[in-house]
Amino acid sequence: MLRQVERLPRRIAGYFRHVLRCLTGGSWWRGIALLGGLLTATVLGALFVAWTGLVSVSAHTEHWAVTRWFLGFAMRNAVETQSIGIEPPRLDDRTLVLKGAGHYETGCAACHGAPGKPRSLIVQHMIPSPPYLPDHLEQWDPSELFWIVHNGLKYTAMPAWPAYERKDEVWAMVAFLQRLPTMTPAEYEALAFGPTPAPGDGGSSALLDTLSDPLGPVLADCARCHGAEGLGRGAGAFPKLAGQSETYLLESLRAYANGARKSGVMQPIAAGLDDEVLQRLARHYAQLPADATVPATDEADEAVEYDEAELAQALRLAEHGAAERGVPSCTDCHGPKSGPINPAYPAIAGQYAEYLALQLELFKSGHRGGTDYANVMHSAAQRLTPEQIDQLARYYASQPWEAIERVTEPRD
Ligand code: HEC
Ligand code: HEC
Ligand code: HEC
Repeated sequence: MLRQVERLPRRIAGYFRHVLRCLTGGSWWRGIALLGGLLTATVLGALFVAWTGLVSVSAHTEHWAVTRWFLGFAMRNAVETQSIGIEPPRLDDRTLVLKGAGHYETGCAACHGAPGKPRSLIVQHMIPSPPYLPDHLEQWDPSELFWIVHNGLKYTAMPAWPAYERKDEVWAMVAFLQRLPTMTPAEYEALAFGPTPAPGDGGSSALLDTLSDPLGPVLADCARCHGAEGLGRGAGAFPKLAGQSETYLLESLRAYANGARKSGVMQPIAAGLDDEVLQRLARHYAQLPADATVPATDEADEAVEYDEAELAQALRLAEHGAAERGVPSCTDCHGPKSGPINPAYPAIAGQYAEYLALQLELFKSGHRGGTDYANVMHSAAQRLTPEQIDQLARYYASQPWEAIERVTEPRD
């Protein structure tokens, strides 16, 4: 009996060899032809079943357990392997968290829910259904989250970042996701929506007036990030818009809408609006007073201490440029200077330092497009050193934000 069992594998192997010899007549070529035939039959069979319309594509029933396991296994391993070598920057930065929170509300909460906001019944019927994210993040480290948010996940509805070159924005989202699991609904509201305008004060009643206007809901959304008064949220996550040149605002919104200026945060917003609405938005923000005070918030940057000697050096650089490195004078185009300024050139004095520094880095690395004039900034920023960028951003941020005199653009 024992010997019969021991012989079993050999007998089975012998049996297969016999069948194979009968089918192929011992020839390699016939063996390969047989394999090819089997493959073709499988593909044709699969095509036939698909053609009959009997494959279940209904999202009414879940995947089979084995399919679900396989997809999860493949996804986890792909993310783990492909995120090797991605080095996270410092993520405990309030500006990054604020920017991430603003965009989470625009681009993620509808599918993934947020503190105090369960996922809608509709997305719960997607397969795979987007998970309620605050409970689903602990399994991923920052580099893996970066990879997922940057690339999206194929075969699911998880989209890739709309502006692939804006890795800085993806890191802002990761910084926010790091905070999400322990965030209360009140903290989420404060981060993603900003201070709720108190009835009665000037800016907010202006905001309430605009709510009766068709532009109202659009402006209320802009206000989440740019503030009801258009002066941002006290930190460099979002630029000031109030009193900025109307031409520059309009051309920048158009540049986001047509993809000439890349931003995963602003492109989806601008691309969803008609040109007429963009024109009204540009006019609205250009007319808001530039000198209103920014409402105090928890997120506000602490006042930066400026070293006088360093500021004087920065002023020299802004006024005269650095001829030996081919850096032009900034004040020629951006002021402060007496005399009018081309309306296509933005005001930068009094803008947030972190925003200015980021934009200069983006110009320098070629990742910022913009209006038809953007090329002048590419050559201006190209040869700036990181120290000069920091100095110039801090110098301009320390100046008052005020409306500047502009010449009207020649029109034909
Ligand atoms: C249209 C719906 C949709 C939107 C919008 C969306 N996602 Fe997803 N997301 C999904 C789906 C579907 C999955 C995959 C779930 C699965 O494979 O089980 C997913 C998976 C993820 C995961 C992996 C979670 C896990 O453990 O499986 C993360 C992280 C994530 N999304 C973050 C985001 C962020 C951040 C945003 C906004 C920038 C976003 N998603 C926008 C649908 C969406
Ligand atoms: C989720 C936050 C968010 C919302 C909502 C939002 N913005 Fe922005 N906005 C940003 C960020 C971040 C930037 C900087 C993007 C970049 O790096 O190019 C920006 C940049 C801009 C700029 C360019 C400013 C400059 O100095 O170059 C304009 C103009 C603008 N936004 C207008 C609007 C308008 C109008 C709305 C409403 C329709 C709006 N934004 C809604 C976050 C937001
Ligand atoms: C020849 C004119 C010119 C010179 C010189 C110039 N700029 Fe600019 N700058 C522009 C224009 C035009 C834009 C708008 C580009 C766009 O978005 O299309 C701009 C944009 C910027 C922005 C982004 C503003 C925003 O709101 O996003 C910063 C920051 C900036 N410039 C800083 C500087 C600094 C610092 C210097 C000096 C090293 C400088 N610029 C020199 C014309 C100039």
